[in-house]
Amino acid sequence: MAKKRIFSGIQPTGNLHIGNYLGALRNWVDLQNSGEYDCFFCIVDYHSLTGDRSAKERHDQISMTAIELLAAGIDPDKSTLFVQSHVPEHTELAWIFNTITPISELERMTQFKDKSAAQKQNVNVGLFTYPVLQAADILLYKATHVPVGEDQVQHVELTRDVARWFNNRYKKYFPETKVLLTETARVKSLLDPEKKMSKSLGEGHVIELADEPAVIEAKLKKAVTATKGGADAPGVENLLLLLKEFGEPALVRSFRAAEKNGSIRYGDVKMEVAHAIGNSFASFREKRKELLDERELVADILNSGAEQASEIAAATIEEVRRIVGVR
Ligand code: TRP
Repeated sequence: MAKKRIFSGIQPTGNLHIGNYLGALRNWVDLQNSGEYDCFFCIVDYHSLTGDRSAKERHDQISMTAIELLAAGIDPDKSTLFVQSHVPEHTELAWIFNTITPISELERMTQFKDKSAAQKQNVNVGLFTYPVLQAADILLYKATHVPVGEDQVQHVELTRDVARWFNNRYKKYFPETKVLLTETARVKSLLDPEKKMSKSLGEGHVIELADEPAVIEAKLKKAVTATKGGADAPGVENLLLLLKEFGEPALVRSFRAAEKNGSIRYGDVKMEVAHAIGNSFASFREKRKELLDERELVADILNSGAEQASEIAAATIEEVRRIVGVR
């Protein structure tokens, strides 16, 4: 039997942070290494055009994202890693899907509402049809499983709908895609622990995978802990969560106990978290440095990824064109 096929995408935002890692990347590497899936991982630069970055920034961020995915364990011998715009069939299929997707369905998308609110000066049509392009990404490869965090579930459900609308209108062609929901740790911002960790909040809010230990320590020193006291202060919960993900379980237990009897010292927790994260990404940082000096190798990897992806994409689009009657 053919292996199940996985497709997932990540926006090129430059340096990856531990939120990206715990929310998606760690899981991608595990799925890849399980050997049970045929994996496609895509840097979605067409999607990133809906944001506000300059061309130079975007260009730099695409290669940095590739370097960091490789450094984090995406293995081009096991997975197909490529850049979306290298396979232009993504946009052709997205156009075809645009013509079968009701506007009202896209108006419901919560990410569209959030992003429109966040970039009021630039509420472009691309932002609106973003989930349709995402459906095209997935269905171009007839992926059966899409590993994502909770915030993307609505988009994967829309992908199933798009497949259904297409199959009903033309003929049964696209498979039903399932979410592989990652049991993701939801990391919060260091400085504003009510909010999800995100680069858009600013430098001090995130820990990047590439941060040197001294930087991690400095950022954690400024992390917000229990401002009003109380056991479930979100900043403290966040630190303990990070310690659970990256450190020793015994340490988490002892800090939990200290928290209960009031003897907890947040400075100590922060130091332990800093060490745990710094150690966890030591080999990542090394690999990343190496790859920064091997730009040609990285370009070669992306080119051959695009070649592998193109083969499937071209075959799908050829059939789709026939099915919809444009060829
Ligand atoms: N929209 C996703 C995000 O913001 C990125 C993405 C684009 C994606 N295409 C995809 C994820 C296809 C999974 C499958 O994180």
